[in-house]
Amino acid sequence: MSIDTEGLDPYQLAASAARVLAKETKVVHHDVLVVLGSGWTPAADAFGPASTEISVTELPGFSAPAVAGHSGKLRSVRVGNLNVLIQMGRTHYYEGKGAHAVVHAVRTAIAAGVKTVVLTNAAGSLNPKWVPGTPVLIKDQINLTGGTPLVGARFVDVTEIYSKRLRNIAKQVSPNLEEGIYTAFHGPQYETPAEIAMVRAMGGDLVGMSTALESIAAREGGAEVLGISLVTNLAAGMSGETLNHEEVLAAGKSAAETMGKLLVEVVRNL
Ligand code: HPA
Repeated sequence: MSIDTEGLDPYQLAASAARVLAKETKVVHHDVLVVLGSGWTPAADAFGPASTEISVTELPGFSAPAVAGHSGKLRSVRVGNLNVLIQMGRTHYYEGKGAHAVVHAVRTAIAAGVKTVVLTNAAGSLNPKWVPGTPVLIKDQINLTGGTPLVGARFVDVTEIYSKRLRNIAKQVSPNLEEGIYTAFHGPQYETPAEIAMVRAMGGDLVGMSTALESIAAREGGAEVLGISLVTNLAAGMSGETLNHEEVLAAGKSAAETMGKLLVEVVRNL
């Protein structure tokens, strides 16, 4: 469906994407958005067959993701009595399309009625106990991207950017889940060992290149946020090895089934 989106601000663009989404999915109101990060895509299948699957490019304001491991599809799935939107692949800040593009899916979902946003990602770990394949709940974040999706005097409260209530639900589902502070870099280069030393001094536990702007936009829109990192590697300089994207994807792939089950159980218990 082509509509004229010229001259719309980011919120109007999200509202227009939400209208097309409702039409394409025949679901007037979605309840939950689940964003699947690098390597998490196979976890989508744990939600069962999609009522509808569309390519994000069918919606106003979206562009195809540029990164391997990100499919650019949106699924609408019914879980219990909730309509769940699953975003397979996201736009990253390092793609250079700007912060509004990074959070467009979150704003669209919120315009479509979503009150719960589940953000997943692949992350490097500063905690040597968290070996590749370990899921870690995000309890707070340090935004070192240099960006924000907020423009003007929008003084959004981010005291509890990741909902304690949702973290408790996740811990009921999976009692061994630990929590950490996610530190977001602009990327796309991985961090230097010196930057990892800085993150450690700041109190960060996980490093990645996503999620932080989306969680801010979700809070701006009044949604509750759950964040889960899948550790795919020890942070730069910690293992004596170099980092690469294939390793990140492989770690995601082998954990995807377990992660899918975890996500579905969390959504069932919302
Ligand atoms: N750093 C940044 N992003 C990442 C990493 C990392 O070590 N692993 C997966 N995504």
